[in-house]
Amino acid sequence: MTQEELFKKLIAHCKEYGFIFPSSEIYDGLSAVYDYGQMGVELKNNIKKYWWEAMVRLNENIVGIDAAIFMHPRVWEASGHVGAFNDPLIDNKDSKKRYRADVLIEDWLAKQDEKIEKEVAKARKRFGENFDEALFRETNGRIGEIKAKRDEANHRMVQALTDNDLAALKQLIEDLEIVCPISGTKNWTDVRQFNLMFETKIGSVSEGAGTIYLRPETAQGIFVNFLNVQKSGRMKIPFGIAQIGKAFRNEIVARQFIFRMREFEQMEMQFFVRPGQEMEWFKHWKEYRMRWHRALGFGDNMYRFHDHEKLAHYANAATDIEFNFPFGFKEVEGIHSRTDFDLGNHAKFSGRKIQYFDPETNESYTPYVIETSIGVDRMVLQVLSAAYQEEQLENDSRVVLRIPAPLAPVKVAVLPLVKKDGLPEMAKEIVDMLKFDYNVTSDEKDSIGKRYRRNDAIGTPLCVTVDHQSLEDRTVTVRHRDTMEQQRVKIDELPSIVEQVTGMKSLFKNILK
Ligand code: GAP
Repeated sequence: MTQEELFKKLIAHCKEYGFIFPSSEIYDGLSAVYDYGQMGVELKNNIKKYWWEAMVRLNENIVGIDAAIFMHPRVWEASGHVGAFNDPLIDNKDSKKRYRADVLIEDWLAKQDEKIEKEVAKARKRFGENFDEALFRETNGRIGEIKAKRDEANHRMVQALTDNDLAALKQLIEDLEIVCPISGTKNWTDVRQFNLMFETKIGSVSEGAGTIYLRPETAQGIFVNFLNVQKSGRMKIPFGIAQIGKAFRNEIVARQFIFRMREFEQMEMQFFVRPGQEMEWFKHWKEYRMRWHRALGFGDNMYRFHDHEKLAHYANAATDIEFNFPFGFKEVEGIHSRTDFDLGNHAKFSGRKIQYFDPETNESYTPYVIETSIGVDRMVLQVLSAAYQEEQLENDSRVVLRIPAPLAPVKVAVLPLVKKDGLPEMAKEIVDMLKFDYNVTSDEKDSIGKRYRRNDAIGTPLCVTVDHQSLEDRTVTVRHRDTMEQQRVKIDELPSIVEQVTGMKSLFKNILK
């Protein structure tokens, strides 16, 4: 099965099992907007909990807020979003399809990387055990040629984006002979800028309605509350403010399911530090955030850093954490050293003094900021695409979602073997015992095998089967999702088993290691 086929199957699976539905589907959907179903919302809430606890609970110097989506329009002037939150777009005149010019070029760059990997794979096959990969990469003429062309194109793209030179971007697309994936032609329009913010009106027209924006990032709600939180919480630098909330972007190229949406959720943390100490903290948060991802156990090789060559004008360092999705390595999280740009600009635009008096140095300054910013929906996609597996068993097959147990939508399914003889009553007793702490379901319909499969398909880590022996000795069978192993345990032992398998503690310990 190709990665593309796997991705299609995952999307269908998400709908069939109540994870994710297209928005307003009975009206044929709304492009790049999705709804979370009964399973999806549980998974999403667990991801948010994992993030919140790891950031706010485990770090004494981080607190959380929940700012409004609507903000004063001047906020977006100060942040630079009114002037510069643009995508460079290009249309193909034959297919009438619109693309982000930089994404077209990035796709071309990725193809060159693939070509290099193919050359390496061919040579590995040819030379067998004696293959010296590093030497081959360094000395092979064909690889050298592809790499030189690739690096030059990358350099030209970075330069054009930095200079905001739209003509140079178009020239590059022409020079690289990039064709439209739909029409296959090179019949391109000029590159134009397009602002990504959604506008709406506040107040009724008669009162003199004003244009405001749906926030394109949650970060600004944190910056404008810096003084409120610092003073009311008597916070001492270094400290952080965290927030989870909706953000909106009128993305033109909305692709790959929930990877790029027009309405999505972010989990952002701004960490305020003394000027000059930002690089130390940038390193700290880079490592901490990578440990947060790796603790989920999908394999360290599934993640990589991508350091930015093109820095935004306000940043002095930036990196992405990329995950190996079925469509390749792509960004899930950004870690940015944003200097004093945001607080400084809000001070300028609002006319307020936004500074911190440092009792240790006896001076006032505008703090510098390290930001960690991750998309909730991209995390959902990361977990689902890494978890989805089709397995051939001895006499059967199954689709199993190997979701890390602490994130699984349902933690325990309690299954009475038959629907009589007092077994459903005993199952209910177990559900009632566990439901205060865990999302637990009970399922009585169909054969036990079918019920196991249904729970595998939604990623339930533990199934507890109640049978006639349970009535005699108060023991049940616990069946583990991943190994399908079964163990006979006392009902009284269930709370500790469930905690051990599904508690978040083990993840947190790995982050703090
Ligand atoms: N405050 C910084 C900021 O917003 P960003 O790189 O534009 O930075 C941060 O976004 C994260 O938000 C991304 O790494 C991604 O996970 C998520 N994100 C951004 N745009 C998105 C979209 N259209 N759909 C889904 N997630 C998105």
